[in-house]
Amino acid sequence: MSTATRQVRIARTSVEAVDIRSFELVAEDGVALAPFAAGSHIDVHVGGFVRQYSLCNDPQERHRYLIAVLKDAKSRGGSTAMHALEAGQSLTISDPKNHFGLAHDARHSILFAGGIGITPILCMAERLAAVDAPFALHYCSRSADRAAFTQRIRNSSFGVRVAFHFDDGPEAQKLRAAEAIDTPQEGTHLYVCGPTGFMDRILGTARERGWPEARLHREYFAAAPVDTTNDGSFEVQIASSGAVIRVAPDQTVLAALSSAGIHVPMSCEQGVCGTCLTRVIDGTPEHRDMYLTPDEQAKGDCFTPCCSRAKSARLVLDL
Ligand code: FES
Repeated sequence: MSTATRQVRIARTSVEAVDIRSFELVAEDGVALAPFAAGSHIDVHVGGFVRQYSLCNDPQERHRYLIAVLKDAKSRGGSTAMHALEAGQSLTISDPKNHFGLAHDARHSILFAGGIGITPILCMAERLAAVDAPFALHYCSRSADRAAFTQRIRNSSFGVRVAFHFDDGPEAQKLRAAEAIDTPQEGTHLYVCGPTGFMDRILGTARERGWPEARLHREYFAAAPVDTTNDGSFEVQIASSGAVIRVAPDQTVLAALSSAGIHVPMSCEQGVCGTCLTRVIDGTPEHRDMYLTPDEQAKGDCFTPCCSRAKSARLVLDL
């Protein structure tokens, strides 16, 4: 995966909702920013961390990237460091990457955003509206004051296609997932981004209604907690050298590889971004990531060593 970086300047930062700030990033060297498609994110290097943030401006724009960051009470440091930044400061970012693109053959799209999950979904809505593609957007939030970009959405050309659902609002406006997610119609695609529980609810409802996985598109921000009490040790073998490395019960594969001097690119360290994705030549991985689809996990030919482990005694890795 590309690790190319560039310097940008924070042209503007705004409070978009309670605990949510947006950052408008412009090129520092005058060179045009790389184009991006709806659903893209950038890696942002901040405070010694590398964090992924979705681009939420209109993907037709070339002069800026807009990201929005929720100050997470359980922050491991990234969102706190972002919220301390001011306009005028420089940042190192990657060029845009996209694991959450729009399906080009869609006849209709249903978009679901939970909280800060609005960021890639808003970019998708901008794109679908620009090409006059039919879509509906359901935007769920704990309360109106925690929902970012509501004014921008209401003022947009697609505002009438957006239904707001606030947890503390009247019963009539609450999201009824089973009603919003019909039985799958030919050519309809569903996109969801938000907290894990919200996404599981939307995806679970769609699966119950018979939606095929190929038409369910999702992007997770954080991995669900995993019970690690029964984790055991196993071995990984490096295919190129034959070296065998033991992974201790309380150690990640990435950490074990790193102690042996083998450094695999990584970023989120929780199975969300896909940066560490590694091919598995032999053995059976135990997937704990949110990056691969269930079908991709079932194939067992790659895994995320930052969080996933092994069901077999040994995994042979294409390293
Ligand atoms: Fe992000 Fe492994 S580092 S999935």
